[in-house]
Amino acid sequence: MSRLLEGRVGVITGAASGIGRGLAEAFVAAGARVAIFDRTGAEEAAGEIGGGTLGLPGDVTDEQRVAEAFETVATAFGGFDFLVNNAGVRVQVPFTEQTLESWRQTIDVNLTGTFVCSQAAVRLMLPRGGGKIVNLASTAGALALTERAAYNASKGGVMALTRTVAAELASRGIQCNAIAPGIVETPLSARYFTDPRMTEIITSNTPLGRWGQVDEIAGPAIFLCSEASSYVHGATLFVDGGWNAAKGY
Ligand SMILES: NC(=O)c1ccc[n+]([C@@H]2O[C@H](COP(=O)([O-])OP(=O)(O)OC[C@H]3O[C@@H](n4cnc5c(N)ncnc54)[C@H](O)[C@@H]3O)[C@@H](O)[C@H]2O)c1
Repeated sequence: MSRLLEGRVGVITGAASGIGRGLAEAFVAAGARVAIFDRTGAEEAAGEIGGGTLGLPGDVTDEQRVAEAFETVATAFGGFDFLVNNAGVRVQVPFTEQTLESWRQTIDVNLTGTFVCSQAAVRLMLPRGGGKIVNLASTAGALALTERAAYNASKGGVMALTRTVAAELASRGIQCNAIAPGIVETPLSARYFTDPRMTEIITSNTPLGRWGQVDEIAGPAIFLCSEASSYVHGATLFVDGGWNAAKGY
């Protein structure tokens, strides 16, 4: 990836693992300075990536910790140009067996965490003339994946929140968009790839005939955090090998 993010500084949440980790590496290669905010492994991941990457431990649902960590980033980096809301969790369970506790936990991390981090980032971005927010939604926010009620609802909420932030704050320099990946090979989705029934479902429903790799999310995220996307606001970009598009008949 060319140096599309030269001189940009910001935060990627949940970037100690999976998609977020891949994004952090790709952002650094594209010229950015990145702070990883993750409840586990933030400092270790930052040390491994290098390039001045900062590792900040914390939970995206903890409003006070998020505000304090993001302030630290703005001071250390001398700015706050982007936020990628990537931290997420998923529970797979039949609808009739989903506990209220696991429902609340999923909504709390995936949707409320996105709100908490976005608000903290916007408060730092506005006095600096604006910034870019990219939210990790999912095809699950648009298509009903069975046994994932809380996850699907949380990601549909992320898409709605993305549109709202864009509508309310575009005129003040805040650009907010979402990426909706299909199935991407990470620890979160690892169980799919050892289950022949799931691999058949994924490959037959995806026009491209395969699941995605972490580095295939990096290009769209870099685009949405760079000047190349300046007229893209409130959009959800499906990065799913054509899965969502192919749901017609
Ligand atoms: N992998 C896929 O197939 C896929 C598909 C669509 C969307 N997504 C979305 O992409 C994002 C990343 O998923 P992934 O597959 O890389 O998952 P992952 O499990 O590999 O990584 C998630 C990261 O988020 C962190 N995290 C979880 N809860 C947190 C919290 N409360 N506070 C701070 N950090 C927290 C974890 O510690 C972990 O490092 C998620 O939002 C997920 O819903 C993934």
